This record gives sequence, structure tokens and C-alpha cells, in this order.
Amino acid sequence: MPPAYSEKPRLLFVDDEPMLLQGIRRMLHPMREKWYIDFCESGPQALEKVTAEKSAYDVVISDMRMPIMNGAEVLSRIAALHPGTIRLILSGHADRQMIMQSVGIAHRYLSKPCDGRKLTATLEQALGLRAMLRDEELRRSVSGTISLPSRPDLYVRLLSVIQQAESSIDDVEEIVSHDPAMAGKVLKLVNSAFFGNRGTAHNLNEAISYVGLDVLRSLALTLGLFEELKGGFGALTLSSMEALWSHSFDVAAAARSIAVAEGAEKSIVEESFIGGLLHDVGKLFVGSPTLPPLSLQPGETPVDAERRIYGGTHGEAGGYLFALWGLPSGVVEAVAFHHEPERGLPASEKDPGFTALTAVHAADALLHRKQHDAVAPFFLHPNGAYLARLGLSERLPAWEAVI
Ligand SMILES: [Fe+2]
Ligand SMILES: [Fe+2]
Repeated sequence: MPPAYSEKPRLLFVDDEPMLLQGIRRMLHPMREKWYIDFCESGPQALEKVTAEKSAYDVVISDMRMPIMNGAEVLSRIAALHPGTIRLILSGHADRQMIMQSVGIAHRYLSKPCDGRKLTATLEQALGLRAMLRDEELRRSVSGTISLPSRPDLYVRLLSVIQQAESSIDDVEEIVSHDPAMAGKVLKLVNSAFFGNRGTAHNLNEAISYVGLDVLRSLALTLGLFEELKGGFGALTLSSMEALWSHSFDVAAAARSIAVAEGAEKSIVEESFIGGLLHDVGKLFVGSPTLPPLSLQPGETPVDAERRIYGGTHGEAGGYLFALWGLPSGVVEAVAFHHEPERGLPASEKDPGFTALTAVHAADALLHRKQHDAVAPFFLHPNGAYLARLGLSERLPAWEAVI
């Protein structure tokens, strides 16, 4: 039995430079009430701690280049012992060879010198969503996921387009924008600091040009980074997966149209599309065959039932995955709360107005309503109280007209 996770999140930093660890200790001093933070100076020491401690570490953040054992090896050994642990690489070396080694192991790459606010925000969002998943099995299956399965037809098209020297970024974008699995992967790569630390890419065209067709080609062909769906994933058969991915694309396109109709700024329009494309990815986890089937009690919504039966919702599971992968926080929020948009608004914060979450929630609900000929069950309706709070209730007919 692996040790349980404690109430207060436990973090372990591994770096062979004591000065750097000192700096991190100082930087994270304000967080000491909230987090238990531990340090060690080598891979073997880290493994010793991980096996000796009674409580598992929630997060391990390791340097890449260290004597005896490098960061990729430390994290892969920790992943084998505790698949639920969040694994980050914090490194000063933009060495492609080394990055490729850890692409399948680390959830995220951050570059040195480390920006304390960015690190804290990254960890707070990931730990917050993780806390919503009460079921340990569900947490593990999300944090153990490195690749999502693609639709076979799109996978074959991607491979053929990527191998042609004359293919353009637009050709690749056309395919990737129909496949949540590929889109998530490309965004994960681009948002990792090693691809140039250019900040956050919000749209797929930008993301593909950052990574570059050559890198995508080698990731696809040699590392098998894009996986073909063979036989199904969890409880999903190929045809239910196809239906899920095509619904995802419809919601993405509708969310983008709604954001445009609202005159939202460019980054929100782009996050709305990506958020729509990824919103239901969590269904791959809560639909796992090892879990009992979803059965509703009288008056219960599917989201409440997911929480009761699985200890977390498909929105939260997807949001947690994309927080781990370092996707923009607007996208993470849109995925996590698309059925419960009011949870995306912390009461202490000022009204943020129209966001990607608003667009994805409305697009998903309005499309369901359209498909059900306006007799959709109550839980699929747009959330009236939430839209009223944002002062957007009157906008529904206009949104319906553009989707
Ligand atoms: Fe959903
Ligand atoms: Fe949906």
C-alpha cells in the first residue's frame, strides 16, 4: 500500500546546487503555512526520502542535469512508486536531447531562473483542482496520463501531412484543430519553457509554428507522441470516442463564434476555441471500466452523480490534466467548470465579466438544447443565475443565432 497523501500539500525540491535551493526556500517562505516544503541535493537522496517518509509527496520539482542521476530518471522512478505525484522539471538547460528524454515523464518544464509568482500560481491551480478529485484512483489515472488517444483517421492524416516536405502549418492546424488529443499535446509542448520560453500560446497555429514542423515530425514518428486509438480507451468504444471528439469540435467552433459575437479580446476568443475542443476530455477518465456505471438518483444531475460515485467530475478531471500540462489558466477553468460556471468565480474576486468559461458553458448548453429540440433536461440548460450575475442573460438569443 503506498502511503496516503496528507491534508497539507507536500513539496520536494531536488537540485545539486545548495544556493539555488536556498533561493527557492526564501522565495516560497510566504507559502509555509499552506505547504510543507522539503529540499534535497541529489536524486538518490530524493528517492530515499520518497520511500522513507510516511506521507507521499504531492509535488516533486527536480533539476534536470545532476551528477549520479538526472532529473528525468529521478522523476520516472518517483512516478513508478507514486503515480499520483505531480512531477515538474525546473532546469536552466534548454537541451533538446534531454527534454525529449523527459517529455513522457514530467508534467511540466519550468526554466531557471524561476519566477516565484509563476511557480506558486502553477502549483496552486494544479493542487486546487487535484483537491477537488477526492478519489485517489481517479487522481492517479489523470496524473499518469501522458498521451491521449487520437481518432485513427486523423492520426493517419497527420502522419501523412507531416511527412510531406511541402506541408504548411495551416495544413497541420486543420487536422490538429479537429482532435482534442493532438491539440492538447501540441499546447503542452509549446507551453513548456524549453520551447523558447515565449510565454503562453493561446492558439493552435501559433503553437504549431513555435514547436516547428520538424520537431512535430520527430515527436510523431520516433517518439510516438501522438497515439492512435486502438480498440477504445477506458469504457469508450471507437464510435463513442468519435462522437465525443466531433461534439468537442462543434462546441469549440460555437464557443469561438459566441466570443466573437461578444466582441471579446483575441486571447479570450482563442481560449474559447481551445477550451471547447478540450472541455469533455475528462470523460476519458470518469468513464473508466474499473469504475461503476453512472446511475442517477431522482432529481440528481449527472455532475452530482459523478461526484458521488467517482469522487470528481469529468470537468474537474480534464481541468486537472490540463493544469498539469501547463495550459493557459483560462482554458483550464473553462474545462474544469463548463457545467458549473459559477464555481469559476471566487466570491472574493471582482466580477471578471465574459471569459472563455462563459463561452464554453453557453456553447455546450445551447448545442445540447438544439439537439434535444428544446426539451433538454434542466441540467443541460445555460445557467441563468450565472449569466444574470454577469449581466449577460439578454445575450442568449444572439448567441443562439451564431452557433
Ligand atoms: Fe461536459
Ligand atoms: Fe459537452
